[in-house]
Amino acid sequence: MAELQSILAERFIDAVVTAFGEDHKNIDPLIQVAGNPKFGDYQANLAMSLAKKVGQNPRQVAVTLLENLKLDDISDEPTIAGPGFINIKLKRDFLEAQLEAMYQDKNLGVTQAATPQRVVIDYSSPNVAKEMHVGHLRSTIIGDSLVRVLRSQGHDAIGQNHLGDWGTQFGMLIEHMIDTGTGSDANHAISDLNTLYQASKKHFDDDAEFANRARTRVVKLQSGDEETLAKWRQLVNVSMEHFNEAYATLGILLKDDDVKAESFYNDKLQGVIDQLADLGMLKESQGAKCVFPKGYNDKEGDPLPMIVQKSGGGFIYATTDLAAAQYRVNEIKADRIAIVTDARQGQHFAMVFQTVKEAKWDNGVKFEHVPFGAILGEDNKPFKTRSGGTVKLSGLIEDAIASARKVIEEKSPELDDSIKAEVAKAVGIGALKYADLSSDRIKDYVFSMERMLSLKGNTAPYLINSYVRTASMFRKAGLQPADVASVTMALAEDATRDLALKLLQYPAAVESVAISLEPHRMCNYVYELASLYHSFYAACPVLKPGYESTRDTRLKLCHLTAKTIQRALGLLGIDTVEQM
Ligand code: ARG
Repeated sequence: MAELQSILAERFIDAVVTAFGEDHKNIDPLIQVAGNPKFGDYQANLAMSLAKKVGQNPRQVAVTLLENLKLDDISDEPTIAGPGFINIKLKRDFLEAQLEAMYQDKNLGVTQAATPQRVVIDYSSPNVAKEMHVGHLRSTIIGDSLVRVLRSQGHDAIGQNHLGDWGTQFGMLIEHMIDTGTGSDANHAISDLNTLYQASKKHFDDDAEFANRARTRVVKLQSGDEETLAKWRQLVNVSMEHFNEAYATLGILLKDDDVKAESFYNDKLQGVIDQLADLGMLKESQGAKCVFPKGYNDKEGDPLPMIVQKSGGGFIYATTDLAAAQYRVNEIKADRIAIVTDARQGQHFAMVFQTVKEAKWDNGVKFEHVPFGAILGEDNKPFKTRSGGTVKLSGLIEDAIASARKVIEEKSPELDDSIKAEVAKAVGIGALKYADLSSDRIKDYVFSMERMLSLKGNTAPYLINSYVRTASMFRKAGLQPADVASVTMALAEDATRDLALKLLQYPAAVESVAISLEPHRMCNYVYELASLYHSFYAACPVLKPGYESTRDTRLKLCHLTAKTIQRALGLLGIDTVEQM
C-alpha cells in the first residue's frame, strides 16, 4: 500500500510539474503533519521554497499550486494560510480506506524498499577482559533498535560487533595470568574479569620488572606466540560468554558471526599503512606515522594528526577503524555504514571518515557516526555505584527485573507466579531499553529506576499496559480479532479520526528513524498513539451496553492499535505481554 505521506507528496509534485515545469520535479514537497488541528491534518510548506526558485511570492505560488492540485478524492478543499502554507483536511472515506489497507497489510503500511540497502550497524562493541558497563548498554540498545527498524523496511541490516580484543593491556593481563596460574586448570578458572584486570594493573604499576615482562608479552602476542595466544583466547572466550549472556537476556540480535573484533583486522593493518604511504598521505611526527585529514586543526590552527602507527611500530584504534572501513565497503559490500558509540568519539570518527574519503576508499558509501550522550546518576554526575565504581550491566538488569516485579505485585497481585515472572522480565528490560531510547540520543540522560518503571507517563510499563488494555478488549468481549476483521472501518467521531490519523503515520515514523537513526522518534510516536487511544477509549465506549451498533468497528480499531503498539515496541526491542 502506498503510504499517506507519499500519496500526498506525489500529488503535490504532479501539481508542481504541471504549474512550473519538469525542472522542479525533484523539489522536496515538505508535507508535514499539522501540529494543530486548526491547520488541517497535513500542511505542505513547498510554496515557500518554490517561490525563491520561480521568483514569485509564496502566496501566489500557493494559489497556482491549488489550481493544479488534484486532491478531491482525498481531501476537502485545501486552504492557504499565512505566507503560503497549504492545509489539507483528509476526507473520511479516504481515511477509512487507508486504514483498512493498513489493517490488511502485514507490514502495517511500511513500504518495503524496492532496492534494499545493505546497512552495517557497528554496535555494542564492548571490550574483552572488562565487564560490559552502562556505556555499552546504550550502544547495544540503540544499535539493536536501528537494525530492527531498517529490517522492517526490507533493508539488509547487518550488525557488526567491533569487540575490543586487542591492545597493550593484554600484555599485563596475560603475564599476570601466567604468574598466578590463572586459567591454568579448573581450580584456577577466570572467575571475575574485573578483579583480574585490577590485579594485573596494580601488578603493572607497582612492579617495574613485571611491567617490562608485560611489554615483552605484548610483542609475543603480536608475533603470534602460541602460549600467549592460548591465554588470550581464554580471556576472549570468558568475556564472550558474559556478553552473550547479556545479549540473550536483553534479546539482542547480535550473533557470533557478527563479531568482527579488533583482532580480526590485524593482518590487514600493515596494508592500510602501505596504501596510505603510496597515496602520499602519511607523515612522520615525533616518530609516529600520521595522517592529517583535511579540516581538522588543533587550538593553534595547525593541522591535527591522526596517528595510525606508533613510533614503536604498533597499530592503534584508528588503524583498525580504517581497515574495518575497507572491509565493510569491499567485502561486506555495504551501502551505508553507521557506528554507534558515545559522543566523545565523534572527532575520532570524523577524522577516520575524512581519511577514508581522501584515500577514495569509500566507493560512494555513506559513513555515519551515531553518537549518544552519557547516562547520569540522579546527582547529574556520571552514573556510578554508591561506592563510586562503574555500574555493571548484569547487576543493572537484575535490578530492573526485580523492581518491575514489585510493580507487578502491587498492580496485579492475583496473577500466577509464572506470569508475574514473565511480565517482570518484559517490563523490567523494556523499561531499561525504553528509558534509554526515548531520550534524545545525543543528550545525556538521568537514570532513574523509579521513573522508568512508572505506570504513568512516557515509559515502557505505560506502553506495555496500553497494549494489554487494547488487546484484552477481545478477551472481555469473548471474541477473536478475526470475528471483527471484515466489518467496515467507521471514523464517525473526532476521537476515532484522530486515532486513525496517528495509526496511519506509523510508516512515516519508521522512515524518520531510518533516516535520522534516532529511535526516540519511534518512542514519541508510540507514546502519542497510546495517548490518543486512551482519549478514544474515554470518548467512545467499546463494550458498554447500549453501544452494540458501534462495538465491532471500534473493536477493529482497538485491534489495529494493539498491533501497531506491539510492532512499534518491537522495533525498539521491547516485548509485550498479554496481561499485567
Ligand atoms: N570498543 C570501543 C569502546 O568500548 C567501541 C568500538 C566502536 N566501534 C568501532 N568501530 N570503533 O569504546
